[in-house]
Amino acid sequence: MEPILLVHGGAGDIPDSRIQPKIDGNKKSVEAGYAILKNGGSALEAVEAAVRVMEDDEAFNAGYGSVLNLGGEVEMDASIMNGVDLSVGAVTVVKDVAHPISLARLVTDKTPHILLAGAGANKFAAEQGVPTLPPGSLVSPYAKQALEEYKRRKDTRTEIGARNPGEVGTVGAVAIDKNGNLAAATSTGGINGKMVGRSSDTSLVGCGTYADNDVAAVSTTGHGETIAKYCLAHAIVKSMQYENKNAHDATNQILTQMTDKLKNTAGAITISKTGDIGIGFTSRRMSWAYRKGNEIHYGIEKGQDNVDIIS
Ligand code: GLY
Repeated sequence: MEPILLVHGGAGDIPDSRIQPKIDGNKKSVEAGYAILKNGGSALEAVEAAVRVMEDDEAFNAGYGSVLNLGGEVEMDASIMNGVDLSVGAVTVVKDVAHPISLARLVTDKTPHILLAGAGANKFAAEQGVPTLPPGSLVSPYAKQALEEYKRRKDTRTEIGARNPGEVGTVGAVAIDKNGNLAAATSTGGINGKMVGRSSDTSLVGCGTYADNDVAAVSTTGHGETIAKYCLAHAIVKSMQYENKNAHDATNQILTQMTDKLKNTAGAITISKTGDIGIGFTSRRMSWAYRKGNEIHYGIEKGQDNVDIIS
């Protein structure tokens, strides 16, 4: 199987000032994940590595630079799923860890559970030797500005507003490795101005993340309450499984159905078990990139598909 690594950097209105940082960050993330696939690593390792890069990048709403809750704090959610055996790990409302996606993976590897929340997730992180950062370390100046702006206008229709460069975007990755194994990973700071303690779709298996070697791997982004009501990632996978749709059609049709019904927007990335790719969003923009062979494809506008050839 030809390995593929596909990432997104958030769906929403996305201000013009954020376009280039997101494209650059997505390409960097793809390179990190693809290097693992190229060296024979697993899809699971690759999606974790790709998401970690975006968690370090303040162009995205994950890890450092996450949006803030109404209390001015970063509370993060992440989930990761292995298509080999449907094993899944997730964390929600976790604070002061640099890479929630790696903590989610530890939940899969080291506990009998699928989701740890809040103080329990942080206690588990400390027990596993994951460093606890000093409070406030993940708060960026842009995020503070975005919260102030939110308090003025109270607009949460999209995950990323057009007017404010501090509203950034959930990140995610899906991959297929040389053995045909699939995996998906998603990480977020949530929605700007959320209530303290709010959990998102990103921590919920079937909503933010899903992977099954028999069908496909999906990661979603966008208005979390809407995505959760529609079980978006699972809906895309089941549409492929039972309606025999390819990744592109399933991703775009399910997103459109969700937005028609629930009147909020989202985006998703999908790789099928045969390596067929789906990228879709009902928001104005969504940044994405993938690498297959010596080509990196990327875009952020509707219909865009730029290509860099790696020599
Ligand atoms: N989709 C991410 C969130 O709503 O928090």
